[in-house]
Amino acid sequence: MVEPRQLRELREIVGDEHVLVDEDLLSSYVVDFTGRFRGWSGCVVRPGSTQEVAAIVSTCRRNGIRLTVQGGNTGLVGGAVPLGGETVLSLRRLSRIDHVDPRSGQLTAGAGVSIVAVQQAAAAAGWAYGVDFSSRASATVGGSVATNAGGLRVLRHGDTRAQLLGVEAVLGTAAVVSRLSGLTKDNTGYHLPGLLCGSEGTLGVVTAARFRLVAPLAQRVVALLAFRTPSDAVAAAGSLRRQLPSLSAAELFFDEGLSLVREVLSLPTPFPSRHRAYLLLEAGADHDPVTELSAAVESLHGVEAVAVATGGHGADQLWRYREGHTEAINTLGAPHKLDVTVPMDAFAELVERVPEVVARLRPEARTWLFGHAAEGSLHVNVTGVDPADEEVDEAVLRLVASLEGSISAEHGIGRAKRRWLDLCRSSAEIEAFRAIKGALDPDGILNPGVLLPDS
Ligand code: MLT
Ligand code: ZN
Repeated sequence: MVEPRQLRELREIVGDEHVLVDEDLLSSYVVDFTGRFRGWSGCVVRPGSTQEVAAIVSTCRRNGIRLTVQGGNTGLVGGAVPLGGETVLSLRRLSRIDHVDPRSGQLTAGAGVSIVAVQQAAAAAGWAYGVDFSSRASATVGGSVATNAGGLRVLRHGDTRAQLLGVEAVLGTAAVVSRLSGLTKDNTGYHLPGLLCGSEGTLGVVTAARFRLVAPLAQRVVALLAFRTPSDAVAAAGSLRRQLPSLSAAELFFDEGLSLVREVLSLPTPFPSRHRAYLLLEAGADHDPVTELSAAVESLHGVEAVAVATGGHGADQLWRYREGHTEAINTLGAPHKLDVTVPMDAFAELVERVPEVVARLRPEARTWLFGHAAEGSLHVNVTGVDPADEEVDEAVLRLVASLEGSISAEHGIGRAKRRWLDLCRSSAEIEAFRAIKGALDPDGILNPGVLLPDS
């Protein structure tokens, strides 16, 4: 609990109206978007500048106040909700896009700027932002950097870390580090942006980021392919990367997921009959990519049906079948969400074995699979299992580790997976993580309980 004297200090920094203590006002900050992770807090602080963040961290350090850092609260591993009663540091007011440079194709955005606003600012300057994912309207720059967000275009442009030219951040010591000049060549020591990106707010509070932008693609085509078997779909995703240089997305889903999405979102059927597996492809180029897409699809094995849309409403409609999965699954109750990745040659085996592993342990559960097929990145959602029952989670993560995969492809470790970090990180790596944490956040006030397992 934050004492009255400490609240006064925080109010002096950000102003009365930006220290929230009323239970109703706190309610949306203490529960995650799926409803699986629910915490509590005595106070939310909403700074309006990097200097205010530094003053808050300094005050909290002095008073032993532990902080949970939050952006758009779209995280999926319980990393941004105050499960231990922490004070919430909400960065949504850091919502300025300061410096769009159309010549170099770069922009600087505050931590509270939404991803869709970054995309729009990039487009207005004649560029595009390389990262995109379905929570784009709510997810923020700070959260996307803190979790190294991946999403739908990783195969073409890489993850958030690959876009990051610089950050401004307040470390756990309250020191401000800022390097936003956007040098694409800068070989002067440790790469702090790369370290802070993916550190899940455990080392510092990212207050702004400098991103590289990518050339916009004048023409795009979206195709939904239906496959005879899941392994045909997985094999196709692998070979398309080589055959179709304009490929921007290759998203996998299955018949059960499509039926649920159609039912919940009231969407028409894409094909007259049902099929076992689907790939949603997007290709983008400065020329019309339809011909090369058609040629690549011709060469694939096991394709039973194809629907194509060249941009506009039709393309958005096809995307709804894939992007609707998160929302549709959430209507069944808080899901267990496991986002994992394995080497491509083990991906088909993972897709086949995950439902078996879940069914063996919890026959009453339902397993929903979808994901980013070209990276071997699979979203395993399990419904009908008590949120506190983690036996299924553990079994799936152990399967992934046995296939030499990673227990988090893109959502991070958060609080949900930290006890299994050693499935894919050696004790030497975890000790190095702890040493870095100790140096940058010596009092352990930033996102306690996130990422690192208890020692
Ligand atoms: C997605 O790919 O749709 C996101 O990672 C969100 C999710 O897994 O639900
Ligand atoms: Zn994803």
